[in-house]
Amino acid sequence: MGQLDQKVALVTGASSGIGRATAERFAQEGARVIAMARRADRLASLHNQYPTIEPFACNVADYEALHTCIDQTIATHNRIDILVNNAGFSFYERHVDSTLEQWRKTMAVNVEAMYVLAKLIVPHMIERKYGRIVNVSSVQAMACEPEVGAYAASKGAINAWTRCLAVDLAEHGILANVVAPGCIKTEMSIINGADETTTESFRQWYVEQRKIPLARPGQSHEIANAILFLSGDQCTYMTGQTLVVDGGLTITF
Ligand SMILES: NC(=O)c1ccc[n+]([C@@H]2O[C@H](COP(=O)([O-])OP(=O)(O)OC[C@H]3O[C@@H](n4cnc5c(N)ncnc54)[C@H](OP(=O)(O)O)[C@@H]3O)[C@@H](O)[C@H]2O)c1
Repeated sequence: MGQLDQKVALVTGASSGIGRATAERFAQEGARVIAMARRADRLASLHNQYPTIEPFACNVADYEALHTCIDQTIATHNRIDILVNNAGFSFYERHVDSTLEQWRKTMAVNVEAMYVLAKLIVPHMIERKYGRIVNVSSVQAMACEPEVGAYAASKGAINAWTRCLAVDLAEHGILANVVAPGCIKTEMSIINGADETTTESFRQWYVEQRKIPLARPGQSHEIANAILFLSGDQCTYMTGQTLVVDGGLTITF
């Protein structure tokens, strides 16, 4: 028996990193997974590996495409039990150099897309009186570095919005929670061509001086396991919460 047998899940940002690991983990646990991202070739390879993963290639900021995806999924499977809003975008710029266009793109991909997907999917969850929504934010919502203002603001919005969503939807049997990852080794940890988790400054500060008490970057599957818990039937009395998965990063000075 898989933890997600009979469940239909939509995972955004499934072409790499945390989203890909989540789609794989869900498929291993018996779910049928709609895997959304822009890179169709990556999604096709995921489908080849796990035939129960169905690719849907689109930009999450293309709200018409989101409509099409949900319409098709409901027409085929008649349900969506789990929504994992994981797709994310970031850029690195001090406030004085950043633009409103960058801010708006960040909000469109990181926050608005979640709202639109939840608008589209929640009515189907209400019909079945069941649903699990997991939104991926970041420790940057609580403690931040320079140059990530828009990103941090978008992630803070996710935490706050998810709490409200949890209150709004509780009476319908729908739980909504957040996973907030710390430093995870994915394509997103490559900044200006360099993997930040392999730089000398990362080694000294986060590893040797144990700013991260567990003294290493996290791996995508470690976040996927937290998302799996919040997405499954083991999670019954937890809603509106932000689960920080960061090797202890945010508990240290
Ligand atoms: N890695 C970290 O240290 C870290 C820390 C905290 C939070 N997070 C969060 O974790 C989530 C996943 O990131 P990751 O670390 O796994 O990075 P990643 O490997 O770069 O994955 C990002 C995913 O988002 C998708 N995506 C980005 N823009 C999109 C768009 N406009 N439309 C559709 N899909 C889009 C990408 O797919 P396509 O390019 O194929 O569209 C990709 O699948 C993000 O929300 C990120 O903010 C990551």
